[in-house]
Amino acid sequence: MKQINVGLLGFGTVGSGVYRILNQHEEELKQRANATIKIKKILVNDIEKKRAVEVDQHVFTQSVDEVIADPDIDVVIEVMGGISEARDYILSALRHQKHVVTANKDLLALYSGELLTTAAENQCDLYYEASVAGGIPIIRSLVGGLASDRITKMMGIVNGTTNYILTRMTKEGADYQSVLEDAQALGFAESDPTGDVEGLDAARKMVILSTLGFSMKFELDHVTTEGISQITAQDIDYAKRLGYTIKLLGIAQHDACGVEISVQPSLLPNDHPLSSVNNEYNAVYIYGEAIGETMFYGPGAGQLPTATAVVSDLISVIQNKHMGVNGQGVVLPHNPTRLKSDKE
Ligand code: NDP
Ligand code: HSE
Repeated sequence: MKQINVGLLGFGTVGSGVYRILNQHEEELKQRANATIKIKKILVNDIEKKRAVEVDQHVFTQSVDEVIADPDIDVVIEVMGGISEARDYILSALRHQKHVVTANKDLLALYSGELLTTAAENQCDLYYEASVAGGIPIIRSLVGGLASDRITKMMGIVNGTTNYILTRMTKEGADYQSVLEDAQALGFAESDPTGDVEGLDAARKMVILSTLGFSMKFELDHVTTEGISQITAQDIDYAKRLGYTIKLLGIAQHDACGVEISVQPSLLPNDHPLSSVNNEYNAVYIYGEAIGETMFYGPGAGQLPTATAVVSDLISVIQNKHMGVNGQGVVLPHNPTRLKSDKE
């Protein structure tokens, strides 16, 4: 049986989840991938750090070249986050003919065109299911299951941290700052949670969803963005009394006038399906001309749900490899050169 060697960039919440799933589901993954999967190298910042998951110390490295320039490594999984280094490393990995799986929405919202073009030029796959809504297979659904439809609107709770905070403020009257600290401890929040609470993380995800859903390229400055840091206990109380729930909602709407994308705290009537999406759970509610309305729901952040999406992407890369179709966008991604600019 063929062995696929993987290099991990990052071994934090998501990276260690990837390692755990590869171990815990080893037998099933071997069958589905028709290959054994080996983590050959893991790039980290601090090689001495004590890890919650036990790993042979020799696997860790602080040298990115030991991962992306190793001719034996077939696939690089980028789960370190950040923009500048992650972009350089992914581009370099692709140029070294490595297929790439990433969870990095910060990077994709800014550079998806460059990354996807480089992947295509090098006949490599670049998969990124975990970048939006954690464990919900929303990207596959948009480019696969809904490929035949014309999507007119997407409404999403796409940030787990803020949904967790708002849920606990609403249900328990919990204090904003202490719940944010809990979300950080649970691994839902980014290392700097400003992007979560100020709506930027959700805006990045709405850019990715809109680009795929409407087959147009969008930039972050297309998105009107407001976070939840100004929401008070009093706002929540008023909303409750009027029969509403406050949610941080991303809305992308395509009509005759063009596309409008926003992320804002919104009042949802209590009988709307999105109002009962609680804690770190996410949901994306889609309106399509043919399908009508459909909702995708599941855990939007956290170690194992996110790692599930990453490892599933890895399996797709390996399956493509068996078929000799890497880099042809068989399942994902869309060919970036086919995307229209929204200004056209
Ligand atoms: P963590 O902060 O938990 O882990 C980051 C890891 O990357 C750490 O192991 C760190 O090393 C390593 N790292 C960071 N920068 C560098 C660098 N410059 N050089 C070498 N190693 C580096 O992040 P998460 O696992 O939470 O997130 C990873 C990615 O996944 C991010 O892009 C995030 O947005 C995305 N994501 C996260 C989700 C979640 O629920 N947490 C959900 C969906 C996506 P060390 O351990 O030594 O510090
Ligand atoms: N910080 C992100 C969130 C992680 O809370 O949704 C998942 O992308």
